Amino acid sequence: MSEKRGRVFSGARPTGRQHLGNYLGAIRNYVALQDDYDCIYCIVDLHALTTLQDTDRLREWTYEMALDWLAAGIDPARGTILFIQSHVPQVTELHTIFSMVTPLGWLTRLPTFKEKVRQQPDNVNYGLVGYPVLMAADIALYKADTVPVGVDQAPHLEFTREIVRRFNHIFGEVLVEPQARHTEFPKVLGIDGEQKMSKSLDNHIEIAATPEEITQRVMMMTTDPQRRYRHDPGRPEVCNVFSLHQFFSPAEVAQIERDCRTADIGCVDCKRLFARNLADHFAPLRERRAALAQEPDHVWDILADGARRASVIASEVIAQVKAAVGLP
Ligand code: TRP
Repeated sequence: MSEKRGRVFSGARPTGRQHLGNYLGAIRNYVALQDDYDCIYCIVDLHALTTLQDTDRLREWTYEMALDWLAAGIDPARGTILFIQSHVPQVTELHTIFSMVTPLGWLTRLPTFKEKVRQQPDNVNYGLVGYPVLMAADIALYKADTVPVGVDQAPHLEFTREIVRRFNHIFGEVLVEPQARHTEFPKVLGIDGEQKMSKSLDNHIEIAATPEEITQRVMMMTTDPQRRYRHDPGRPEVCNVFSLHQFFSPAEVAQIERDCRTADIGCVDCKRLFARNLADHFAPLRERRAALAQEPDHVWDILADGARRASVIASEVIAQVKAAVGLP
């Protein structure tokens, strides 16, 4: 550790098998950051409790997500710490301490909170209000300086910075004010071509899907709605399949664009190419995933080892925090 540029922390709720949106928006970036940073990646199961109706699938979703992340190249052998949030309970201590320096108005004004209230009006629990406080505790507990997140998390990151500043102002310079690092890839749309790709909307394509499953989902994708007949020229700039070709078909994308505009290829041809390239792109991932899945205990061991390494940092920082606050 430490010839690197700094320390990255990021987290995601356990949502099971990962999809293209997770991959392009987060995972790919997490993997790349390992070259230049000491990376800590966390499966935030406590955060998941704020919205889950039933929690009986939490364990399975945690495991499936860890498999995808590891298979995608998040690599503890390169120093990366991958762990489950609830396995390092010091975060809940820091959350409690942070809650004492958080004005309630900051929390209830956050657009992310208002959105949740709209989504689940019958379950506006205390944890939901405190969601960003727990997230700030996640980041501050490891003195991370860099946090890769989607732009939807920008208000939460700003909140984290404010809490850290406030804490340091009151109790002394103990904690590190982190910087957000937003991913460049624009919002990934689902196969409906309208809404953001998400498992709950069932408009997603899983990164570990079999080639057959990939083809089936890709054939369901909407394309240029004005292109109704095979001989109609297409408009790649409004086509969701094309926007993904730009990422998964770098060698062919220019040709596809021309052939679509001149109707030399139809949408079905274009989707076949896309499905093939997608299946090829993730072939190594599928293989690594299958190998890992042979030994589930090994995957849990990796997560347990991550928690042990995370606790070493967390214990030191929480001790500094308590001393600064004046807890006896
Ligand atoms: N709030 C993030 C989300 O909903 C997840 C998260 C929790 C997180 N703790 C974090 C992200 C710490 C970055 C850093 O996507």
